Amino acid sequence: MGDLADRLRGELDRYSPGGKLPSSRALVERYRVSPVTVSRALARLAAEGLVVTRPGAGAFRARPRTPEAPAGDTSWQEVALSADGAADLVPRTVDATGVTVSLAAPPPGVLEFNGGYPHPSLQPERALAAALARAGRRPGAWGRPPLEGLPELREWFAREIGGAVTAAEVLIAAGGQSALATALRALAPPGAPVLVESPTYPGMLALARAGGLRPVPVPVDPDGVRPDLLADAFRATGARVFVCQPLFQNPTGAVLAADRRAEVLRIARAAGAFVVEDDFVRHLVHADAGPLPRPLAADDPDGVVVHVGSLTKATSPSFRVSALAAHGPVLERLRAIQVVDSFFVPRPLQEAALELVGSPAWPRHLRCLSGELKERRDAMTSALALRLPELALPHVPSGGYHLWVRLPDGTDDVAFSAAALRAGVALTPGRPYFSAEPPSPYVRLSFAAVAGPGEIAEGVRRLRAACDEAL
Ligand SMILES: Cc1ncc(COP(=O)(O)O)c(C=O)c1O
Repeated sequence: MGDLADRLRGELDRYSPGGKLPSSRALVERYRVSPVTVSRALARLAAEGLVVTRPGAGAFRARPRTPEAPAGDTSWQEVALSADGAADLVPRTVDATGVTVSLAAPPPGVLEFNGGYPHPSLQPERALAAALARAGRRPGAWGRPPLEGLPELREWFAREIGGAVTAAEVLIAAGGQSALATALRALAPPGAPVLVESPTYPGMLALARAGGLRPVPVPVDPDGVRPDLLADAFRATGARVFVCQPLFQNPTGAVLAADRRAEVLRIARAAGAFVVEDDFVRHLVHADAGPLPRPLAADDPDGVVVHVGSLTKATSPSFRVSALAAHGPVLERLRAIQVVDSFFVPRPLQEAALELVGSPAWPRHLRCLSGELKERRDAMTSALALRLPELALPHVPSGGYHLWVRLPDGTDDVAFSAAALRAGVALTPGRPYFSAEPPSPYVRLSFAAVAGPGEIAEGVRRLRAACDEAL
């Protein structure tokens, strides 16, 4: 296959830029190879940006990329969106455990250190109820909304993202999970590799695998994804997509360092690839954090970033309103997939979101949430340091709702989690966060899903028993 790609590469200058290559059948006959060999060779050249494949139309010599393409040129997306990076068919595995683990209620009496959303006492329940009531009375509230979402809500999300992002570049989606599903399906065909942070959110890995994609891990350190390894991974796989959480990464809590932000975008752009920015927890910043970096999408004139932002974490898992934002031709692909999959987000919910974020209760709620989260994080870190000194906390996050805790080497994280459950604490083992073998055993402890600092102290006391049993 390597041979055929090399031979085709050597002969590409026979065709004019944009010109059509011989059909796959003609290539099979000319080179006396199998159709699979031809499609792999074309996929390789497409991944290198030399060829553009258009399903149903054939393969074309790519137009040369001008090295000094002016900022704001999104024409590279044409190659990215038509290149079929699929090398091998990957069996689709549909496994919901990565998602249900943080959605399931624990058994009675068990403390919820595994929850993926803040406790009801941290949700703006009264403001939500008032917003829903007002929304239901708005004129036209029960009619069909515009397919892309209510214009004022798109406008609000565009302002939240900042930079040059406009309302026209925002689509309203039904929560972060659904927006991620749309993005992955839009950007990567079945069988294609997709670069993911390691460790990362198991619900996203589950989505990728359910779409027949091949997650390829790229390690994260306390400053976010490692750019050197990201560049290597693009080179090795020809991937066209990298899924990144630049802010308060789940599970490590890392924030992508200032000097890595532009580098990540530059590396992706050079690979002709998109960055799916999962900005899922921006509103859960702790009261002692400094100023937050803007979303990557705010500094992206070339349309590299497909941005996902969601309201669920700061409101309620049932308030399933999110935004997908993108710049360039890819927006139309996202819009079409979203409409085909789910038509639109229920209008009353969109109206309620507008009512909520426009009310004085919203900034008040966010301030209060920031203070509570900081207090709970501090309660959990000091209880762990006092009672469980054998557990390591590599990074104390300044946002999000959980700690990523390293177990002593050689510990089985799944067995430890089972021991914790017997002791009365539900937590999340680290293994599902890694798409390949974990470098060390970890568990994730959520401090936001329990009722308050009292339950945090009690949960850590119970974990002492689990440590005594399992470590
Ligand atoms: C990193 C990350 N992204 C996205 C989501 C999806 O959240 P939602 O669909 O409620 O917005 C989650 C949920 O836990 C998450 O952890």
